[in-house]
Amino acid sequence: MSHVEAHDLTVDSAVRLYEKHLDALQRVRAEQRELHDGGMRAQLDDIEAELTYLRLRESTPQTVVEVGSLHGWSTTWILRALRDNGFGRLSTFDIVGGARRDVPADLADDRWTFVQGDVRDTVGAVPDGIDYLFVDAAHTARFARWYLAELLPRLRPGTPVSVHDVFHRARPLPFSEGAVVLKWLADRGIDPFTAAKAAAADTYERIMRARIRLGITEPVHPGTANPMIFFRTPVTDPGAALS
Ligand SMILES: C[S@@+](CC[C@H](N)C(=O)[O-])C[C@H]1O[C@@H](n2cnc3c(N)ncnc32)[C@H](O)[C@@H]1O
Repeated sequence: MSHVEAHDLTVDSAVRLYEKHLDALQRVRAEQRELHDGGMRAQLDDIEAELTYLRLRESTPQTVVEVGSLHGWSTTWILRALRDNGFGRLSTFDIVGGARRDVPADLADDRWTFVQGDVRDTVGAVPDGIDYLFVDAAHTARFARWYLAELLPRLRPGTPVSVHDVFHRARPLPFSEGAVVLKWLADRGIDPFTAAKAAAADTYERIMRARIRLGITEPVHPGTANPMIFFRTPVTDPGAALS
């Protein structure tokens, strides 16, 4: 990567991604709706799931790592992006094996590896050369400190990362995963992107308006909080000032 930017997402760039990949996104939404209606438990809300899909389409990663899949809702959004890109592999880490059961076999195909266990114990199976890191696992400060120390330093500068469940309110609770990650980012001068209603109401509204203009009107999943943050790893050593 020759040019490293802290922000790959802004409202304008997000809307451009919706416009660029609209037909594919509409197909994926229909596929995900079928899974949802079939009873798959879903944690990601629609905008954050769609931004994950669109960002994967745009960044075309070869190697994606997901920590925290539960029944595979985020997993299936990610796998559909890799399928639509025509290449790329996903390695998923979770204590529970629900995703292994519920992710459709034709979607998993030969692009998916599932590693069951506490990721802190199975970290040896994390592939080298991660191009996209997705985290939605334990929401404790301790777990955040673990992956900031153990996973983030493995990433090349400028690697896209997303972390779920940060902005359920305007500020995360002290001593939570979100508080630790936001401090780590602030120490490195990074202001992550979010479409969380509670923390970035204007961004949420602007993206909602654009989606409606483009014909995305029916929810796939009813949640509207979208508490995920999106950022890129910093140019400086991400482990250097860990606190
Ligand atoms: C909020 S759920 C994930 C939801 C999922 N991403 C979705 O879109 O529906 C959190 C998951 O993280 C897993 N988890 C929690 N701590 C973990 C750890 N230390 N290692 C691996 N997985 C963990 C839990 O078993 C749970 O399935």
